[in-house]
Amino acid sequence: MKALNLSLANEKKAKYLIIADAIRAAIKTEQVAQGELLPSARTLAQQLNVNRHTVMAAFAELVAQGWVESRERASYRVVKFLPIQTSKSLEVNLESTAVLKPFKWQFAKQVCSDTHLASANKKASEYLFNFSGGQPDIRQFPFDEFKSYFAQVCQRPNMQQLSYGDNQGEQALIEQISIYLRRVRSITEKKVMICNGSQEALYMISQLLLQTGDYVAVEQLGYPPAWAAFKSAGAKLLAIKQDEKGVVPEHLAKELAKGKIKLIYLTPLHQYPTTVTLDIQRRRQIYQLASQYGVAIVEDDYDHEFHYDSQPAAPLAAEDPQGLVIYISTFSKLMFGGARVGYVAATDELIAQLAQYKMLINHKSNVLIQHAVAKWMEQGGFEAHLRRMTRLYHKRRDHMVALLKSYQRQGLSIEFAIPAGGMAIWLNVGKSVKGLKEKLLAQGVYIQTEEEFNINKQLPSNAYQHIRLGFAAMTEDEVQEGVATVMGELFGSPK
Ligand SMILES: Cc1ncc(COP(=O)(O)O)c(C=O)c1O
Repeated sequence: MKALNLSLANEKKAKYLIIADAIRAAIKTEQVAQGELLPSARTLAQQLNVNRHTVMAAFAELVAQGWVESRERASYRVVKFLPIQTSKSLEVNLESTAVLKPFKWQFAKQVCSDTHLASANKKASEYLFNFSGGQPDIRQFPFDEFKSYFAQVCQRPNMQQLSYGDNQGEQALIEQISIYLRRVRSITEKKVMICNGSQEALYMISQLLLQTGDYVAVEQLGYPPAWAAFKSAGAKLLAIKQDEKGVVPEHLAKELAKGKIKLIYLTPLHQYPTTVTLDIQRRRQIYQLASQYGVAIVEDDYDHEFHYDSQPAAPLAAEDPQGLVIYISTFSKLMFGGARVGYVAATDELIAQLAQYKMLINHKSNVLIQHAVAKWMEQGGFEAHLRRMTRLYHKRRDHMVALLKSYQRQGLSIEFAIPAGGMAIWLNVGKSVKGLKEKLLAQGVYIQTEEEFNINKQLPSNAYQHIRLGFAAMTEDEVQEGVATVMGELFGSPK
């Protein structure tokens, strides 16, 4: 007599799964009752003419699915409450608790929803012409060459490095960045830490140094993702006035004197979004003020690589006897935003705390990309790419300047200062830019307007008269066509 009446399906899957299905069907049709002992694996194996281990695997599968439980000495019993019954009784219970509403999330924190962040999430390729100011020309990135660095890392993987630990970043990359910062930014006294882009650094700094109600002094026209990070820690923003020489120290001094400011956030080299380089005298004054009031400065040196007219001014971090400057920068402009490689340079103490904090969020940054970038830097590819891109962007800046000047000669009331570096031009169009972004988006053109960068959103609409035009990501022909569309929308069709 058969131990169980099992009918095995003729399916293309592992034998033990077919047997498990058949046993489950036997349970469902109550050949064996709930709580009853099943025939032994040996008996079933003989009956089905299969190896005993195949039946054991089928039993294990049924245990995992909750149909069977194992008893001592390798015997198996049908569970007292079958999985279908458990979910059925749950359904009954749920039905009896009136209407099933979607689960209501209770968010403990409100994430700052910023239009700037939302638009940054769109892919550059979604636009016909993308004038986003921080956008590099990703088409120029040497992917073929770069993949060889990845290959090198994968050919000789270091098991130790591939695991957890070293939250501060991979030593190879830290060394390369430290050398680079010493050579090009004269930063010698600081420890380096790798993070997932400078945004992660801004977030961690905010969480470590700010409390609810603290004030952060920021540029009146500034970088909204940094503001969002400060606000996420409960801080309030205090806008410092700026003019054609950058942030106004006298205004900062007045605000610092009130004793509420805990942190100063600046983009001194190419002020974001105006591209103005902070006056050297003011730079010193600001450092002295920070030192006098015991307030740290976050110096965001996001695109220092691209400076055209001279050597870029040294950062505040290069002369920081007090160690109060937290320097941050990124590979997002040299590579692409999705690379998520950024870094912080600061005192040992702060870096140690940041490394601890990083462990809480994501342990460490991606090891493969860190080693690939380290090899890129070590073997000279990085420097060659940097030189090539600086030449290209310099040419593109000159082209955009010439183009805008030609519109000025046609009588258009546009004004701008030629940026000494960076990837964008801050253009005064002499009239309100309210609604311009949307009108251009409808034509496939992405630009950013003053309102997005101005901390004060309540000014009369004709107070916002600037747009930011990135010149790095597009060819000269593309820029020509895109700018023609922008000018056409603003002033009719001068072309
Ligand atoms: C002022 C500023 N800081 C930082 C960044 C870079 O951020 P991340 O390194 O997070 O890509 C950008 C890029 O647009 C920027 O404009």
